[in-house]
Amino acid sequence: MAAPVIAPSILSADFARLGEETRAVAEAGADWIHLDVMDGHFVPNITFGPPVVKALRPHTDKYFDVHLMIAPADPYLAAFAEAGADGITVHVEAGPHVHRSLQTIRALGKRAGVALNPGTPAAMVEPLLDMVDLVLVMTVNPGFGGQSFLAGALETVARVKAMCAGRDIRIEVDGGIDAETVVAAVRAGADTFVAGNAVFKGGPAHYAERIAAIRAAAGTAAGSAKTIPC
Ligand code: DX5
Ligand code: ZN
Repeated sequence: MAAPVIAPSILSADFARLGEETRAVAEAGADWIHLDVMDGHFVPNITFGPPVVKALRPHTDKYFDVHLMIAPADPYLAAFAEAGADGITVHVEAGPHVHRSLQTIRALGKRAGVALNPGTPAAMVEPLLDMVDLVLVMTVNPGFGGQSFLAGALETVARVKAMCAGRDIRIEVDGGIDAETVVAAVRAGADTFVAGNAVFKGGPAHYAERIAAIRAAAGTAAGSAKTIPC
């Protein structure tokens, strides 16, 4: 496994103190900051847009991993890039022109990601693999933090991992990840782990230990396990 990346999702942070919360998880050992953008249309929840990403940017130098759960995405890609995203991920289900979206993200000088909902087959991303730096496999139905991990999505992770062989592509899982579920995700082939509830519950005093626990479990699983064949 590539060195694990732990990406706390600020969806589970205290929105009244988002700047402090972002700094706190960064200082507690987060590798990336995961920012969940929702539009109330592609998913049944609304979060924030480019102005909030821009407002958070001065709070840390960490990689901003922007997960767009919006449709359409294309009209907003430049705004998220200008706001300070390092990577932008669009859903393959969000429109008919995901290829164009990925071209645009790379043309903006950002790392491009493509996301799959739990009900979407891995094959949907196969024609896109030369255009992406990351494939995000949802391990819950997107829209809310704190949901239960869907183990069935790991079959998709394993298929994506097999398809990506030989390419420099990170495989990210998002939803219900904690120090227990991360083990199965590693075994299926994931190397990048979004965690909202599992990091933020319990408050800032526990962020470092919670991030460390997920990282340790991922490292142990990577050392001990064979990847599940696809
Ligand atoms: C769900 C979001 C996730 C979510 C993860 O729609 O994309 O990033 O916040 O939160 P937990 O880890 O609480 O499932
Ligand atoms: Zn997300």
